[in-house]
Amino acid sequence: MRVSLFIYLSMMFPKEQLKIVETGTLEGINAIEMAKVYPNSKIYTIDCYSEGNEGFMEKMFNNIKPFPQIEFIKEDSIKAADRFDDLSQDYVYLDADHSRDFVYKEIIAWWDKVKWGGMLAGHDWWYKDIKEAVIKLTLDNKLRLFYVGHVPTDLLSQEAELCDWWIWKNEVTVSK
Ligand SMILES: C[S@@+](CC[C@H](N)C(=O)[O-])C[C@H]1O[C@@H](n2cnc3c(N)ncnc32)[C@H](O)[C@@H]1O
Repeated sequence: MRVSLFIYLSMMFPKEQLKIVETGTLEGINAIEMAKVYPNSKIYTIDCYSEGNEGFMEKMFNNIKPFPQIEFIKEDSIKAADRFDDLSQDYVYLDADHSRDFVYKEIIAWWDKVKWGGMLAGHDWWYKDIKEAVIKLTLDNKLRLFYVGHVPTDLLSQEAELCDWWIWKNEVTVSK
């Protein structure tokens, strides 16, 4: 299927009652953005607050307070996947530990949790480790991968916000 048709179909994604997981919460900024776009959704956001990030937790709790649909889980992302039923989530967004081995294992941990027709996605496609892990996993499993990238002139600019990768879990992207 051509990418343009994929993008078109993505617009049809139902805008209500999605079940969403985000790994890597930090201050909760992305969780809040999702809650604003999908106010009727249930959004789990998971963070173990790894070394150097501990100080963000209190701020995050304050930030998410006005959004009761956001539930925070303090745990390692891979371990937290066990809390969720298989085929239970519409959208799982990975933005936790960015190291190659972790990302590879994290995708495996979360893949079964995504519903058929749902999406497994992640941030920071410009990261070499992430690209390597995601490409290896999609090649190993004959999955069809999509990404939006940018020319990394300034990684702190708004451009970095556009760096996502994603795999639709459907019959087109998953060879049987
Ligand atoms: C890039 S930040 C997340 C930013 C957030 N998604 C946003 O866009 O607003 C990465 C976060 O992942 C967390 N993290 C690192 N390793 C993790 C792990 N193994 N499990 C869960 N969270 C982890 C860090 O503590 C940090 O807060």
